[in-house]
Amino acid sequence: MKRLKLAILISGRGSNMEALLKAAAAPDYPAKPVLVLSNRPDAAGLETALEAGVPALAIDHKPYGKDREAFERAMDAALSEAGTEIIALAGFMRVLTPRFVEKWQGRMINIHPSLLPKYKGLDTHQRALDAGDAEAGATVHWVSPGVDDGEIIQQASLPILPGDTPDSLAARLLPVEHRLYPEALAKACAVVSART
Ligand code: GRF
Repeated sequence: MKRLKLAILISGRGSNMEALLKAAAAPDYPAKPVLVLSNRPDAAGLETALEAGVPALAIDHKPYGKDREAFERAMDAALSEAGTEIIALAGFMRVLTPRFVEKWQGRMINIHPSLLPKYKGLDTHQRALDAGDAEAGATVHWVSPGVDDGEIIQQASLPILPGDTPDSLAARLLPVEHRLYPEALAKACAVVSART
């Protein structure tokens, strides 16, 4: 079985990244982490990755100002250097330019905390509560140029309980995300491997 070289892009805590690293510690998992990249030098996930023995690098977006393409060229150079074959966005909080997305299209996936196509963008849990939804959830999808818009790979849902707040919902959803993401990444790897 081919293990695709996996880069994980984060911006903060990195608990989904950690779930992917744990899954990928199994020798028969179809992805092998080669790089964790953060746009924030203070992202807690960088330390977690290093402790797991995975190369981790911060490329701060701030010095690039509004020049998103220059920031992405720097990221792209690091991704290529690591031999990246598939990218998992895991709480990566920068919107990517169409140029970057097109370059990696079909090889880049994201986890979003809603049952897409509902609630693209931010404040997903507040919006689900405001709408009186009976359930919330998370979606792993291919990344396409539209924000949170690509083809769905896998979803997981959970019931919204009386008294739920955005925080309580996010806390209950997190372990669900941690089970969902490794499964969905394995499916994405199968698709990419079948193509090459
Ligand atoms: C998760 O809720 C994920 O769905 C969203 O951002 C959050 C990241 O959390 N895209 P973590 O950094 O993986 O802990």
